[in-house]
Amino acid sequence: MQTQHKLTGHTRIVGVIGDPVEHSRSPQMHNAAFAKAGLDYVYVPFHVRPSDLAEAIAGFKAINVVGINVTLPHKQAVIGFLTSISREAELIGAVNTLSFTDGEIYGDNTDAPGVLRALEEDGNMSVPVGEDVVVLGAGGASRAVVVALALAGVASITIANRTVEKASSLAEEMARKTDVPMQGIGLTDSRLPDAIHQSVLLVNTATTSMDVNHPLLISADWLQQKTIVYDIVYTPPVTPLMHAANVRGCRTLGGIGMLVHQGAIAFEKWTGVAPCTETMRQAL
Ligand code: ATR
Repeated sequence: MQTQHKLTGHTRIVGVIGDPVEHSRSPQMHNAAFAKAGLDYVYVPFHVRPSDLAEAIAGFKAINVVGINVTLPHKQAVIGFLTSISREAELIGAVNTLSFTDGEIYGDNTDAPGVLRALEEDGNMSVPVGEDVVVLGAGGASRAVVVALALAGVASITIANRTVEKASSLAEEMARKTDVPMQGIGLTDSRLPDAIHQSVLLVNTATTSMDVNHPLLISADWLQQKTIVYDIVYTPPVTPLMHAANVRGCRTLGGIGMLVHQGAIAFEKWTGVAPCTETMRQAL
């Protein structure tokens, strides 16, 4: 049983801002990890409306908050209030972690390294440097995955999306900014089966994976055994795509690891200490 954290004059504050914020699982995950590490920190959810964002950030700075996670709808807007920003966050165009130090506010995006750490954590997988990969979806989560894979050194990325214009503009933008060859295509494009056939990694970022009754966006017949299928959706833990891939004999990975590691990387930035990721995973 977890004992109640005793707040003291030394307790340091971190937290998350969002609108809404009640659904966030980050408080339970981080507070469990602080307790495990014996750190006098508390992680608090803050409901901040878009019109209050500037005042909230200034307030955090004034009261010496150590760090803040940023969730919807503030991930882009918050960039206007920062002193500096990481390359990943700049490329993704979204910030999910703020660090307040010496009057400066630094913005980072830990989703990108979180994707890679989740892959590396599984002993049967690794980041496919020099290989071709496919990413399904072209929304906010896709941007983080594409940036992570491009900066890690994959050979090429095919982005496939229902709305083809979003896939092609994301591919064009990211190829230009990272020098990694990319193509953006529709889900019904005849090039998709071949691209999946040749890829060692297929990452799904489309939100349809949350709905167990939604038909798969691709045919499972296009998957080869060598292809790792990584679905960053974490509810359900085994998505229909992962299930179909398992049946084909592919190795699969769900989204909990990314959720844990994006949090663990933020924890480390704020405290200088690596958290127990198993504690974080259990808290979720
Ligand atoms: P997130 O931040 O989780 O990425 P998002 O930015 O809303 O969420 O992106 C959702 C992704 O799921 C998009 O790629 C979206 O495709 P569109 O760009 O065509 O909208 C994809 N998606 C959502 N519903 C879908 C559906 N019914 N069929 C196919 N793709 C879908």
